[in-house]
Amino acid sequence: MIKDYKVKITENRFVSGITWLLKFKNEEIAKNAKPAHFVMVRPTNEYQYDPMMRRAFAIADVVDDEIWIYYDVYGKGTKALTEKKVGDDVDILALLGKNLFPTDKYDYFLLVGGGIGFAGLSFLMKKLREEGKPFKALYGVRRKEQLSMLDWIKENDFEKDTIIYTEDGSYGEKGLITKDLKELALKNKNTVIFTCGPHGMMKAVDKIAKELNIPCYASLESKMACGFGICIGCVIKDTEKDTYVRVCYEGPVFDTYKIEL
Ligand SMILES: Cc1cc2nc3c(=O)[nH]c(=O)nc-3n(C[C@H](O)[C@H](O)[C@H](O)COP(=O)(O)OP(=O)(O)OC[C@H]3O[C@@H](n4cnc5c(N)ncnc54)[C@H](O)[C@@H]3O)c2cc1C
Ligand code: FES
Repeated sequence: MIKDYKVKITENRFVSGITWLLKFKNEEIAKNAKPAHFVMVRPTNEYQYDPMMRRAFAIADVVDDEIWIYYDVYGKGTKALTEKKVGDDVDILALLGKNLFPTDKYDYFLLVGGGIGFAGLSFLMKKLREEGKPFKALYGVRRKEQLSMLDWIKENDFEKDTIIYTEDGSYGEKGLITKDLKELALKNKNTVIFTCGPHGMMKAVDKIAKELNIPCYASLESKMACGFGICIGCVIKDTEKDTYVRVCYEGPVFDTYKIEL
C-alpha cells in the first residue's frame, strides 16, 4: 500500500562525482521494501513550495530499519535535498512500483547498471545473494569519480560478483559496460538481464539481449510528477497491447520485448 510518511534523516553526505547518499529510518518501509521499489521524496519542507513536486529515487539498500538512497545532483530538487541535515523530517511517499524484477523464472542473473542506475540494482544484489541465486553485476561509468557505489560494493563484499567498466580506463575494465555482455550472457543457461541506467545504455543492452534472444527487463526512470498513477506524466508505449502504460504504476520494471524503450 502506498503511504505518506514523515521520516527522520540519519545521514546525508556527498559521496563522489555528483552523487550524495541519503539515509532515513522507517521500520515499515524497511520491512516491506523489495528490489525495484522506489520512493518519492519531497525536497522542501512544509512551508516551501518551490520545487513543489517530489523526486523519485530507487531504494539502493536497506540496513536494519534504515533506507539508503544514492542521488545525483542535477537541478532544484536534488540541490534542495543536499541542504537536509541529520534529524530533519522529510516527506516520503512509499512504497512505489508494482511490477518488480521477476526473479523466479530464471537461473542466472546479469545485472547491468550504468551510472546512478546501479543504485536501482544494488538492493537486488543483496536479495539474490540471500536467496542463493547466482548473478554477476556489471557497473559502468565514464570515469572513476562516478563510481559512487564502489565503497558500498567493497563494504558488502560484492567485489567478486561485480565487473566494473570505466570508459577512460581509470578503474576496472576499460570500455563500455556492454563490452563483454554477449559472452557473459551465453555462459549460463536460462540467463536473464536486468538493467537500469541511462536510456542509451539500456537500448544497447536491449539490442544485445534481442540479438541473443535472451530475456531482458529494464527498470525505467522516466520523469515523474505524482509517482502513483494519476498525472499520466510518465507513460511509455506498450507495444504488445498497443497502448500506453505508466512507468510509476505499471512499472517501474518492464519486459523490454513488450515496450518501446
Ligand atoms: C523510479 C525512479 C527511480 C529513480 N532513482 C534514482 C536514484 O536512485 N538516484 C538518482 O540520482 N536519480 C534517480 N532517479 C532520477 C531522479 O528522480 C531525477 O534525477 C531527479 O528527479 C532530478 O531532480 P532535480 O530536481 O535535480 O532536477 P530537475 O530540476 O527536475 O531537472 C533539472 C535539469 O536536470 C536534468 N535532469 C534531471 N534529472 C536528470 C537525470 N536523471 N539525468 C540527467 N539529467 C537530468 C533535467 O532535464 C533538467 O535539465 C529516479 C527516477 C525514477 C523515475
Ligand atoms: S508520475 Fe504521475 S502517472 Fe506516473
